[in-house]
Amino acid sequence: MIEMEDERLIVSTRTEYDDVENILRPKSMAGYVGQEKVKENLTVFMQAAKLRGEALDHVLLYGPPGLGKTTLAHIISAEMGSNIRVTSGPSIEKAGDLAAILTNLEAGDVLFIDEIHRLNHTVEEILYPAMEDYSLDFIIGKGPSARSVQIPLKPFTLIGATTRAGMLSSPLRDRFGVVCRLEMYSVDELAEIVRRSAVLLGTEIEDEASRELAKRSRGTPRIANRFLKRVRDFSSVRGHSTINLETTTDALDRLEVDSLGLDAIDKKVLLSMMEKFGGGPVGLDTLAATVNEDSNTIEDVYEPYLLQLGFISRTPRGRVCLKRAYDHLGKKMPKNNKYQMSIFDEED
Ligand SMILES: Nc1ncnc2c1ncn2[C@@H]1O[C@H](COP(=O)(O)OP(=O)(O)O)[C@@H](O)[C@H]1O
Ligand SMILES: [Mg+2]
Repeated sequence: MIEMEDERLIVSTRTEYDDVENILRPKSMAGYVGQEKVKENLTVFMQAAKLRGEALDHVLLYGPPGLGKTTLAHIISAEMGSNIRVTSGPSIEKAGDLAAILTNLEAGDVLFIDEIHRLNHTVEEILYPAMEDYSLDFIIGKGPSARSVQIPLKPFTLIGATTRAGMLSSPLRDRFGVVCRLEMYSVDELAEIVRRSAVLLGTEIEDEASRELAKRSRGTPRIANRFLKRVRDFSSVRGHSTINLETTTDALDRLEVDSLGLDAIDKKVLLSMMEKFGGGPVGLDTLAATVNEDSNTIEDVYEPYLLQLGFISRTPRGRVCLKRAYDHLGKKMPKNNKYQMSIFDEED
């Protein structure tokens, strides 16, 4: 009998994963699967910066969790041959904290600010002149005797990561010279990531099995890697030396991950839209309250994949459930909602 921990596979804050995540993180552009456009562009900008002997322009990486933002930030810094200093929006409390970090950077260093949309406003304002002119601007004193003081900084590269580009203020967004949106990964790309991770974890996996894992990983490498770890557990308990398709399907079924990668919460969201709100439109907060989840989690973690699948759509009046979602869950779509019907028409 296998004891399953009560853990959530889609969203997880557990640090146990961080160690594995670090082992599995590709260290170079060549090892970074997919995101071809982003890689191509960044490679050009990095080469150009190196040729000019300058710091790379500031880079904003955005996209849903687990798509490789942190990984890419580390790769950029490695390929630029620079040091990386890692921090996050919520952990910088005071303007002075950020000023201290900035003054300690060496020429060409990368400052990585994760969750940059969560910087507080006074901290953020320090960044504007720092990004634009490599300078810290302070006002000393008050009233008529106040004067402004500038402290020069060494040229550095700020890499910001966010799940919500829309939540960045425009002065901050405008100061990034390079803005990269990470896309969800294809099944082929995820299967490649799974095969690569299996090698790094010292385990063998059949091609069919890695494809099945990929199909159920919601376009997200972090989830693919997490599933691989879990499936490997099932496989070794069964005494298999190679992970096969049957064990993979079994394990994922047991983890309540369906053929498209939907878990219990996705289904709760979709079913409550269908059963309690007639398919919508329903506001995000109302929906979140109904399924007893945090609305940020729904928006950042669950919604992107449901949107990608064409299961739901965002409208000015709220979220609506689309025909594909009804089909997947084997439910009948109501015929009486005019607002929805017009969306279905566009869909099909
Ligand atoms: N392009 C990629 N190729 C291979 N593995 C990847 C890729 N992107 C992400 N990963 C894997 O997924 C995990 C999560 O990526 P991470 O960079 O932490 O995502 P994010 O910062 O966007 O939430 C990493 O540990 C890494 O192993
Ligand atoms: Mg990250």
